[in-house]
Formats: sequence, C-alpha cells, structure tokens
Amino acid sequence: MKTALITGASAGIGQATAIELARQGIGVIVTYRSRRAEGEAIVATIEAAGGSAVALPLDIGDIAGLDGFVAQVVTALADTWGASHLDYLVNNAGAGGGAPFAEMTEDSFDAFHRILFKGPYFLTQKLLPVLADGGAVVNTGSSAALTQRVTAGYSAYAAMKGALHTVTPYWAKELADRGIRVNAIAPGTTRTRIGDDAFAKMPELADEVARSVALGRIGEPEDAAGVISFLLSDAARWVTGQVLEVSGGERL
Ligand SMILES: NC(=O)c1ccc[n+]([C@@H]2O[C@H](COP(=O)([O-])OP(=O)(O)OC[C@H]3O[C@@H](n4cnc5c(N)ncnc54)[C@H](OP(=O)(O)O)[C@@H]3O)[C@@H](O)[C@H]2O)c1
Repeated sequence: MKTALITGASAGIGQATAIELARQGIGVIVTYRSRRAEGEAIVATIEAAGGSAVALPLDIGDIAGLDGFVAQVVTALADTWGASHLDYLVNNAGAGGGAPFAEMTEDSFDAFHRILFKGPYFLTQKLLPVLADGGAVVNTGSSAALTQRVTAGYSAYAAMKGALHTVTPYWAKELADRGIRVNAIAPGTTRTRIGDDAFAKMPELADEVARSVALGRIGEPEDAAGVISFLLSDAARWVTGQVLEVSGGERL
C-alpha cells in the first residue's frame, strides 16, 4: 500500500487531499495543530469509507519538535501499514493573514517564516531518509506569491510562500537522482477556514473575490486537492520542479 503524509489536514485543502488520496487506496497520515477532534474525525471518515489513516499532532513552526514528529511518522508507518517508507509528502500546513508593511512586527514576521517556510523546509529535509525513491512531494504555495496578484497586507505571507515556490525546483533537481518529483501548487482564494474562518463569518467576501476570477467563483478545497492528487500520481510522472497556479483564472 502507498502511504502519504499531509500536514495541516484537520481542515480545508489538506483535509480534502487526505480524503481524496484515501479514496484512491493510499494510507494517509494527517496532522492537526489546534483541532485534534477534527483531525480524528477525518480518520474516522476515511475508515468508514474503507480506507486507513492516522492523525498526529504537529506544530510546523516548532522546529525543535520536528525530529520527534518524524519519529512518530516512522512509528505510525510501521504500526499501521508495516511500512518503512512514505511515498508522498504534502507540505500543506499553514495559516494566512498579515498586516500592512508599516505595521508588521518582527515576531509576526518570524512566525510566518517558521510556519510557512522554515518548518516545511526542514521537515522535508528530515523526512528524506523516510521518503521512498520514486516518491513525490507537493508544496502548497499561494497565488499571493505570483506577480500580478498583489494584495495589500500580505507581504510577509506572500514572501514566505514565494520562498517555498523557489525551493521547489531546487529540491526537484537535487532529489531527481532518487526519482523523487517535487512540485508546488499556488492556490487562489479558496473557501477554507483560513483567516480565522473569514468566509464563514463574511459570506459576502466570496462574491467580492469571485468577481476577479475568470471562472466566476472562489475555489473549493477539492479543487486544490484534485491537482495535488494529480501531481502526486503516476499521471504526472514527467512533471517535476513546477509551480502550478490553481485559481480558476484569478485576475486573468
Ligand atoms: N484558502 C486559501 O485561500 C489559500 C490560498 C492560497 C494558499 N493557501 C494555503 O493552503 C494551505 C492550507 O490552508 P487552508 O486554506 O486549507 O486553511 P485551513 O482550513 O485554515 O487549514 C489549515 C491547516 O493547517 C493547520 N495549521 C495551521 N497552523 C499550523 C501550524 N503552525 N503547524 C501545523 N499545522 C498548522 C491547521 O491545523 P488546525 O486547524 O488543527 O490548527 C489546518 O489543518 C496553507 O498553507 C495556506 O497558506 C490557502
């Protein structure tokens, strides 16, 4: 059985990805940070549909905790699937938000750096011995880091996502001799719990954003999950080092 680790899968894009991969018969490790009950509910949903999953806690911004987390992944792989390797890694955990450039604090900047860039960078490095040759990695970046997608207040968030985009082809080049492919998606505005559940609290926001999307609506988590699943799959075996925008044509 193939196995996948999806960080930040207690909600949104990660949750939809976990459900999609499990539907394809892949054993999934999902992580949660604050929403343990939701993380465990995803496992229950997957098991009820005949799949297999494990939920682990992870704060991706706690760099000192990453070695302990990797040890937990190794144990979960062995105990649940009798496996010694992970086939797929989705670096998805993240939090949005921001502040105007003039008001950005060093603490907040450092938190964006740890959660959105340093955390996934070193988690992936520490997982290299566990990743199977021929496996695949997908990083969840953001359309906020693409040119012509500038929204005031997102400079730190976008910069860290841009850094994740930038390392994607470098990792792809350095891991190619092991047959490991590395790609990223850059989602546009997607209806998740990001931004303190902004879309649930202010439904009018979705209509406002939809006006700048060629296909006329904001994204749903499943829109991004489908592309992550494709990039991990054998159908994308000849695709590596790419950052793929998944936005329905944002600001085309
Ligand atoms: N939604 C959008 O419009 C959009 C657009 C572009 C890119 N993205 C990116 O897509 C990814 C997924 O976000 P989403 O939109 O699906 O948001 P979401 O619904 O808020 O889900 C975020 C997930 O990340 C986890 N998480 C948050 N902070 C974490 C931390 N410090 N350590 C580990 N896990 C953490 C959350 O866990 P808990 O809930 O358990 O705390 C949750 O599982 C993020 O990287 C985000 O930046 C989103």
